[in-house]
Formats: sequence, structure tokens, C-alpha cells
Amino acid sequence: MSALEKIGLTALRRVDPELAHGLALKALNAGLGPRSGPVTSLRLQTSIAGLDVPNPVGLAAGFDKNATALHALSRTGFGFLEVGAATPRPQPGNPKPRLFRLPQDQAAINRFGFNNDGMDTIAQRLADRPKDAVIGLNLGANKDSSDKAADFATVLTRCGPFVDFATVNVSSPNTEKLRDLQGKAALAALLAGVMEARSGLNKPIPIFLKIAPDLSDAEILEIAEVANVSGIDAIIATNTTLNRDGLHGPHKAEMGGLSGQPLFEKSTRVLAQLAGLTHLPLIGVGGVGSAEQAYQKIRAGASAVQLYTALVYGGISLAGDIAHGLDDLLRRDGFANVAEAVGSGRSDWT
Ligand code: FNR
Repeated sequence: MSALEKIGLTALRRVDPELAHGLALKALNAGLGPRSGPVTSLRLQTSIAGLDVPNPVGLAAGFDKNATALHALSRTGFGFLEVGAATPRPQPGNPKPRLFRLPQDQAAINRFGFNNDGMDTIAQRLADRPKDAVIGLNLGANKDSSDKAADFATVLTRCGPFVDFATVNVSSPNTEKLRDLQGKAALAALLAGVMEARSGLNKPIPIFLKIAPDLSDAEILEIAEVANVSGIDAIIATNTTLNRDGLHGPHKAEMGGLSGQPLFEKSTRVLAQLAGLTHLPLIGVGGVGSAEQAYQKIRAGASAVQLYTALVYGGISLAGDIAHGLDDLLRRDGFANVAEAVGSGRSDWT
């Protein structure tokens, strides 16, 4: 981390977390973040569901909800970006405060509830995206929608022409009844609608499904069974958790989804379990804060990883640091590339 980034992070930690996040995005857009572009090497270059990425370390959804910092983010070290969630209509989200830091736990709790500018505004921003980056959009549903499942297809139809992949997010804990869409019949119907919307695009893009960590073995099996026959291209595991075990921070009782270090183990177990149930590529998310943790997710079965909360504590330069560190770990263990390492340590997690 540069001295400037260290000073910036210290200052940001003194203000309200949501305000701090907005300021961090402004600082990025003002050119204050890393600008050397994605870290890459022959070992790090890989492909996720047919998408070639310079490295397998991605930005998780929710950091740039409204796609306002695409150009700046594409110059950081990340290998790919996911923005959103976008819903059909703009919506304000839940009342503030709705984002809490738990520094003792290197964690965060959020109950944003899909605050976003809506698909039309976000589509306009995506149309002006950097062409040399891999950018996906997280699809969401409006809180007051009468047909939440249909919202995913609606946003895909509107924004699909401007992105490289789209993620069906049925796992946010902050929109009532959303996670019910992970049930077998509901999920199959929802994905069928999304696949139909994809086939209507001039250039069909890969579709990812993002799941919650708070699922029973039987529920994970059902999701895998549906995903395997649905035509989707990858699964992202996982979103935030409702679990609060072992937390120390003063905000541990806040309602919402918990992210960061305490989620690492749980999300990696779900990932490893899924890896035994599907041949679809997996993207591992949850508590990645170091190269070692990114490597563990890959060895548990992930073709790529994403992170968000660790950036709050480590700064945006962490993306490049993790990618460099991952390259070293792959070389140390004799892997010629990321793909060779995928799943090589799955038995440690099952
Ligand atoms: C999120 N996350 C999220 N996920 C998603 O699919 N759509 C979204 O809109 C959001 N929004 C969001 C906001 C905030 C403030 C946080 C902290 C997280 C979840 C995120 O993408 C990721 O799955 C989890 O945070 C776990 O990864 P980390 O944060 O532990 O690296």
C-alpha cells in the first residue's frame, strides 16, 4: 500500500462507513488509486466460462453498485470487475445507517437493500465502459416488484449488450423473499426466464448464479442439480451470511449480511461442496484478504475469486498485491497456471 493510500484509509476510517465508501469512489475517479492496470503473467492468465481474464482476482458486486468508477477500477490490479446490483427501477434501499465496520473481526455488516440508480442509468454508464476490461453486472430485483423473478430477465435484456457476463443474485439477505428464489422449482423457473432473455441478446453472454452461504447440504445439492441443467455458465459462492458466530465488534448484532474474514471458512466449504456436485466453473467469494486465501479458494475448487470487504481494511491496492502473491504461490508449488491448481486441495474442505 502506498503512503498516500495509508493516509487516505486512516482518514476514511474516521467517518461514517457509507460516506467513506462514497469518498473512496470519488478518490478513485480523481486518479488517486493504483493505475498500472491488471496484474498479469502466463501463470495468472486464465479463463472463466469462456471469458479470458488477465488474472483470477475479481472485484465482488456491491462495491461499485452504480457503475460510476469503471474506468478507474479497470486500471487497478483486478483481473475482472462485477458491478451492481442493478434493479429495473431505481430504488433508495433501506434507511441509514445500513453499513457497519467490525474492525476487530476484519468484517462488515450491510443491509443496503439494493440501493441503486436503476437499469436505464446504469446501462448508459456501462455503454461508456472501458473496452479492455472484463466487466459483469449483478442483477437484482426491486423490493416492491410483483414478479421478482422477471426482474432479473428485464435487467439482463436492458444491460446485457454492454457487459461481458451477468450474475443472477438470489442470495442477498436484504431483500425480503429474495433468497426463497434459491428453492428448486423457483430457481429453475427463474433461470429459464433469464436464459430466454439471454438468447434474445445479439451477443449472448455467460450467466452466473450467486448463492448464499447459509444453505443446508440438501439445498446445495438441489441448487447444483438445477444449475447443471439450466444452461448457466458458472456459480459464484458466496454472498454474505446471516451467521454471527465468533464476532467481537460492537456492531455484531446489527441486522444484515456479514462479510469479510469470518465468512472465509463457511463460504470456502460451500464452494468445495459445490465443486463435487457440478462441472460448472466456480467463483469463490467470502473473506478473501490475502494471496494465501485466494489460493486456498482456488485449491478448494474456484476458477477465480472475488473480494470486497478486505478492501475496506487493506485499500484497493490489495487487488494487485493478491494477484502478485498468487503468482508466487503457484510458482512455489509447481503449477504452470491457475487452471492446474483449481480443486487440487478440495479434500481439505470437505
Ligand atoms: C455486498 N455484496 C453484494 N453481493 C451481490 O451479489 N450484490 C450486491 O449488490 C452486493 N452488495 C454488497 C454491498 C456491501 C456493502 C457488501 C459488503 C457486500 C456481497 C459481496 O459481493 C460478497 O459476496 C460478500 O461481501 C463476500 O465477500 P467479501 O466481502 O468477504 O470479500
